[in-house]
Amino acid sequence: MIETERLILREYTWQDLDAIYEILSDPETMRHYPKPFDKEQARNWIAWNLHNYGEYGFGLWAVILKETGELIGDCGITLQDIDGERLPEIGYHIHKKYWRHGLGSEAAKAVRDWAFANTRYDWLYSYMKYTNVGSYATAIAIGMKKVKEYPDEKNGISYAYAMTREEWEDRKQ
Ligand SMILES: CC(C)(COP(=O)(O)OP(=O)(O)OC[C@H]1O[C@@H](n2cnc3c(N)ncnc32)[C@H](O)[C@@H]1OP(=O)(O)O)[C@@H](O)C(=O)NCCC(=O)NCCS
Repeated sequence: MIETERLILREYTWQDLDAIYEILSDPETMRHYPKPFDKEQARNWIAWNLHNYGEYGFGLWAVILKETGELIGDCGITLQDIDGERLPEIGYHIHKKYWRHGLGSEAAKAVRDWAFANTRYDWLYSYMKYTNVGSYATAIAIGMKKVKEYPDEKNGISYAYAMTREEWEDRKQ
């Protein structure tokens, strides 16, 4: 469990299905994805993360707003294919009613700090479709810089943002 000023990040449970389905089935939230998720994809999403916790010790974690106890999104680390390499990626999805309040970057900063403190990765990435301004603005907000722009079957063009352990340590000084 990770705690920040306004949030708790914890592992998903099957009780979270309806709440995350509401977020991932929303067309506006998912406009940079091929299409919004159906219930089966939301179920697979939780199953994939439960598997990742066991396999790697991390995954996307449920993001809970402390004030209300509500699940407002997810954020965490998964291994993603970024231009042909399997790399640790910080991912985030926040319910649209909470966008632009600093919650996505608050969660992502906590995940960044957790990952550098608890894994041996020297680089952390975020990648996204080139049109996903909210996503790359969040990557920049947590200290990442654009390291790659590449053609991608899924996204047309993808951007990869990243930061190094050294940059993270310098930020803490
Ligand atoms: C990406 C996402 C998680 C950001 O969540 P959020 O809670 O709104 O993010 P924050 O409020 O912490 O914003 C972080 C920074 O990004 C900026 N930002 C966020 N959304 C933005 C947008 N749509 N356009 C431009 N800038 C944006 C903020 O201004 C802030 O910048 P600052 O630090 O300079 O002030 C949210 O937009 C989302 O869930 N999008 C849909 C799912 C998605 O596409 N996820 C990424 C998949 S690759």
